[in-house]
Amino acid sequence: MAESFAPAALPADKIARYDALAEEIGAVLAGEPNLVARMATVASMLAAAFEDFLWTGFYVVDPENPRELVVGPYQGTLGCLRIAFGRGVCGTAAARRETVVVADVEAFEGHIACDWRSRSEIVVPVFNPAGDLIAVLDIDSARPGAFDAADAAALEGIVRSIFGAGQGDAHL
Ligand code: SME
Repeated sequence: MAESFAPAALPADKIARYDALAEEIGAVLAGEPNLVARMATVASMLAAAFEDFLWTGFYVVDPENPRELVVGPYQGTLGCLRIAFGRGVCGTAAARRETVVVADVEAFEGHIACDWRSRSEIVVPVFNPAGDLIAVLDIDSARPGAFDAADAAALEGIVRSIFGAGQGDAHL
């Protein structure tokens, strides 16, 4: 496997860019069942494709404590290590099992500031093929209001295709 990835060649339009990226991520990960490899690759390729993504990565559900998230593969500055379900944007998305879009992190009560430059954030739950929550995908932007329903739909589609249906063999 010797993939090359040229983010500059991706379409400029956001939706088209997500679509092209989803295809490239799927191609790179074809035949690779390891979950750390899958998460690291998704984080790397998303971060490279979108310049204003400041922190891009995963918090995984701790197998030792299923009501706590622990940091997983990411791109960005140092992230906090653990987040309890219900805390911050990540813990809220995990507890609700649904995507949370925060246009202004300062207006989100309980937001956990890992990078002072962060202005907006999206957190997408990640499910395995059995429908169990295994992680959340967290993306921070230095731009206020960087994420909307289109980002939510596109990112939900990417995590579904990489970790959900059809990925029955993925494991640690
Ligand atoms: N802002 C997140 C914490 C994780 S860092 O942004 C990497 C939150 O409120 O859950």
